[in-house]
Amino acid sequence: MKTIIEPFKIKMVEPIKLTTRGERVQMIEAAKFNPFRLRAEDVIIDLLTDSGTSAMSSEAWAAMMRGDESYAGARSWYRFRDTVKDIFGFEQVIPTHQGRAAEHILFGVMVKADSVIPNNTHFDTTRANIEFCGGEAVDLPCAEADDLDSSYPFKGNMDIEALEKLVAEMGPEHIPLIMVTVTNNSGGGQPVSMANIREISRIARGAGIPFYLDACRFAENAHFIKRREPGFETTPTIDIAREMFSYADGCTMSAKKDAFANIGGFLCTNDAELAHRERNILILTEGFPTYGGLAGRDLDAIAVGLCEILDEHYLDFRLRSTRYVVRHLLEAGIPVLAPAGGHAVYIDAHRFLPHIEPLQYPGQALAVELYIEAGVRSVEIGSVMFGLDPHTGEEHPARLELLRLAIPRRVYTQSHMDYVIEAINLVWERREKVRGMRIVEAPQFLRHFTAEFERV
Ligand code: F0G
Repeated sequence: MKTIIEPFKIKMVEPIKLTTRGERVQMIEAAKFNPFRLRAEDVIIDLLTDSGTSAMSSEAWAAMMRGDESYAGARSWYRFRDTVKDIFGFEQVIPTHQGRAAEHILFGVMVKADSVIPNNTHFDTTRANIEFCGGEAVDLPCAEADDLDSSYPFKGNMDIEALEKLVAEMGPEHIPLIMVTVTNNSGGGQPVSMANIREISRIARGAGIPFYLDACRFAENAHFIKRREPGFETTPTIDIAREMFSYADGCTMSAKKDAFANIGGFLCTNDAELAHRERNILILTEGFPTYGGLAGRDLDAIAVGLCEILDEHYLDFRLRSTRYVVRHLLEAGIPVLAPAGGHAVYIDAHRFLPHIEPLQYPGQALAVELYIEAGVRSVEIGSVMFGLDPHTGEEHPARLELLRLAIPRRVYTQSHMDYVIEAINLVWERREKVRGMRIVEAPQFLRHFTAEFERV
């Protein structure tokens, strides 16, 4: 069958409030042209993020009822820990309330003022947490990553030569860890190949540097390997995931992505001494080591979600439905990152709006227009998010000017995706009239969340 169907049925629904264009113009102006400042109920299709926005299954809700809320040693903790160990394979598991809390603890114990941390591309929270500790976050994407037209199947890969050069120049004393983000969210949701993970691991182990995966979308990455990397065609996706983790010394994880949970995360390592120091911070900032900032019921929901996410029918549906949107946009001549990533569609705002300078934020302008056109909420990943150097206060254009439409898991149907495709086409038809933006007010760190804009 060619028709893509959702491999699940809907048994509980939430109404969507339909708004008029005039109402949306008023609302986005009141939100200072920043979609993060909108009320969610004023959004028709919310593609701001795939984080914490997934639909849980009846099994996960049932598991929540079994949640054990004991302060220490709850049954929920053991179910959570055993599931994480089974899939991720690390010896030490530290629960946190979300991914960035795991990053904050990890970098807090490992990063110093002269540290450099390479990644294929740092996500905004890992970059900010490293910079907060005084370290430098360095992106080493492969050459194909910037070529938006390249059909290379693993554009999330790290540039191996650049990594070897950095390790040789800085030495392990300045590189406390090497990180790789699977899939590469800021680089277009593109997967990292097993071959690349093996090479990075070889370099890291050769230099005695710990290697960590930012594992938020590990299942999507593993399934891309199954579908795209020779030699993995018949390997179960769960075993591909296990092999990915076998090359690493630890990971950070946001359970708000590939665990279908609305909250949660964890930090893993094989280093017991390091874990001891991390747990000491955990107790200060998150909670006791057997719940770490989560309710028992959350731990249970995550344990179920981590198993469900590895269902191959679900993962096929997930990758195919994202590809469906990308294919329709490409057919209309709209500049969109290809091949399709896993969790999101990335429009090249620079080419969509070539008349808008990078520091007049074409991605932000496009996000505003898409909201006005159809009530679709998306997020800029470009010079608003990455253009400010927090140390010097200087602004530089980001490497890419993207608009991300992140698709919550199991929330929207195929007809919702058709609506989104139509909305983007309508903005495309009137693109020449779209104007750039300027920032009126913004903080120094993670400014995209709260910045206020006006039209140029
Ligand atoms: N790493 C990556 C690659 C992420 O995409 C995110 C979150 C985090 C770490 C932090 O996890 O939100 O649980 O603290 N990404 C969300 C997004 C917010 O919209 O892409 P968190």
